[in-house]
Amino acid sequence: MEKTFLMIKPDGVQRGLIGKLVQRFEDKGFQLIGSKLMVITKEQAETHYAEHKEKPFFGELVQFITSGPVFAMVWQGDNVIALSRAMMGKTNPLDASPGTIRGDYAVHTGNNIIHGSDSPESAEREIANFFKPEELLAYDRALQSWI
Ligand code: PPS
Repeated sequence: MEKTFLMIKPDGVQRGLIGKLVQRFEDKGFQLIGSKLMVITKEQAETHYAEHKEKPFFGELVQFITSGPVFAMVWQGDNVIALSRAMMGKTNPLDASPGTIRGDYAVHTGNNIIHGSDSPESAEREIANFFKPEELLAYDRALQSWI
């Protein structure tokens, strides 16, 4: 089944949004198979955002994501990558529709609450950057066949 890496950024953790955001993905029908509250290292952040190394905001991005605890998660489900990104809304909250996470909770791109993998390749790389294989648990959910 498809997996994705989602991360509630320091602004989302500081604002006490972990529970509300986890609830959205559970309500949608996805399964949480790994999670941890952690302060990520500069190296982990630079690896995570490596494709943006040349962007003018790279330093600010690394500084922000390492500035406090994040809530790192692995979710699974059918089309979880595309559907979770749709639930997150556009990167710039100015473009994010109401009803999406960024549309409901964010004002600026710099503090946009949540990160989600954008492809299966990114998901695999990002999960490996934050989780050991034994930290991910598979379990049956009786209701899965209804989703
Ligand atoms: S790009 O240029 O389109 O490839 O970048 P984008 O995919 O929109 O954004 C990549 C990540 O960088 C964050 N970002 C920023 N952070 C701080 N300041 C500015 N100006 C800025 N612009 C983009 C953006 O939130 C993305 O982070 P993630 O964690 O992937 O959402």
